[in-house]
Order: sequence, then structure tokens, then C-alpha cells
Amino acid sequence: MARKIIAANWKENPKNEKDALKLFRGVAKAANGAVRVILCPPFIYLDEIAHAWKKMHGGRRHKKEEQLALGAQDAFWEEKGAFTSEVGPRMLRGLGMEYVILGHSERRKWMKETDAVINKKIQRALADGLRVILCVGEPLAVRRKGLSAARNHVASQIRRDLAGVASRDRRHLMIAYEPIWAIGTGRYDNPEDACEMAEFIKRKASGGRSARGGGAAGGVPVLYGGSVTSKNIAEYIKYNSIDGALVGGASLKVGEFKKIINITCKI
Ligand code: PGA
Repeated sequence: MARKIIAANWKENPKNEKDALKLFRGVAKAANGAVRVILCPPFIYLDEIAHAWKKMHGGRRHKKEEQLALGAQDAFWEEKGAFTSEVGPRMLRGLGMEYVILGHSERRKWMKETDAVINKKIQRALADGLRVILCVGEPLAVRRKGLSAARNHVASQIRRDLAGVASRDRRHLMIAYEPIWAIGTGRYDNPEDACEMAEFIKRKASGGRSARGGGAAGGVPVLYGGSVTSKNIAEYIKYNSIDGALVGGASLKVGEFKKIINITCKI
């Protein structure tokens, strides 16, 4: 069975570089061979954290599939040019980033990112050598209509976000299923429903075929995200189809995040 994946989305946290390095050092020690840990800090801390990573690894460069990998929370769809404040995937690769989170519901909501924009970002990121963690998930109003409405919502996001992405490039993709109503709310999805959704997403993201390779259960790896803590992580990752978790709030507390990693190692 492939290693489970625990990805941390720090969002706009912590408040300064000193705290960011402290958090990095604390959780980096907990990384364990049985789990792949991916940390995604804000842009402004990436350089220092990449340096700290290198120091921890005897000065060597980051390789693909590291046990402890780094990622960004966004990347623009153009390589360079007159795009004030934007950061492109090549710049991130240059810093030693392996992953990028794209399509997070907070960017869809606050930055009005559409599926068309997310699609352009995904294409550029994959072309420029980043691995993509694509976030999808339904709002509460849709979920209230039932699981099949939620599936339709997610299927439409996947179809639009991955339009034109060749199946060979999907090897560098994973999808985080994050029901919007579960993000940062303390309300988490029923693990059985999340597992069914993960299977559905694998089928959709591999064009209906059950592709080989990539995740623990084959196909595109699918993470669950939304109020994951040390109390509920085991309920999700016990399923083969759930390849890991994308953790927000609980990834900011060293002790709690270590517990999540340790529990995942034992599954
Ligand atoms: P949460 O965030 O764990 O705080 O709910 C998850 C996410 O937004 O990726």
C-alpha cells in the first residue's frame, strides 16, 4: 500500500517568520517514513523554510517524493511578466517547492476564482513541474439537497478544473475533497460519505477508468479535508480510498499535528 499523505494548509498563519520556523521545526521532526507530510506555508515564509529544510537534510537539494515536502498555497498561470504581486510555478520550483494547492474554496470565495481560472493555473503548474493539490467540495446549500447533489457539484468542478489536462499529467495531481461547510467549523463529514465521495472523485478524475498508481488505492490520490483533528483522522484514513488528509487549523499546533501524523503512521 502506498504511503498515506498528510498535507498542512497554514493559510494566512502564523503571524511572523520566527513562529513559522518554530512550527516548521516542530512538525518536521514528527515526519515519519510511513507517511508523506506536505507543508504549505504562506509565500512570505517559503524561502526561510526551504533553507531550514535543506539544513535539516544535510544541505542537499529537495528531490521528488520526499517524505517531508513543501508546497505553496497558490501559483499564477503565467511564468513571468507584468502581473503585479503574482508568483509563478517556476519561481516556486526554484525555491524547492514540490506542491501547490489550487482551487481552495477560500480562494474561490474571497478572490472569486472561477473554475476557468483554476484550470489555467493547474495547466501552468503541471507544465512547470509542480504537483497540484486541487481542492473541490460542495457548499452547505448543495449538501442539504443530498449526496447526489453534492456529487454533481464536485463532478462539475473536476470536469471544468481539469479540462484539457492530459491523463499522463494527472499522475502529478491529487484532489482534496473539502466540503465547504466542514472547513474551519468543527463540523466534519461522515467518514463513510467522504469515502464514497473519494471513490467517486477517483473515477471522475481518471476519466471514468480506475487508473493505476498514485494513491493508496490506485488512481488519483484523494485527501479528505474539513475540520480534521487527532480525534477524527483515524475514521478517514482507515479507508483505502482516502489517501490522506488536508489539515488546516489543526496543522498550526505542533502537538496536535504530530498526533495526526502518529495516528496515520499506525493505520
Ligand atoms: P480546517 O481547514 O482543517 O481548518 O477545516 C482545512 C482546509 O481548509 O484546507
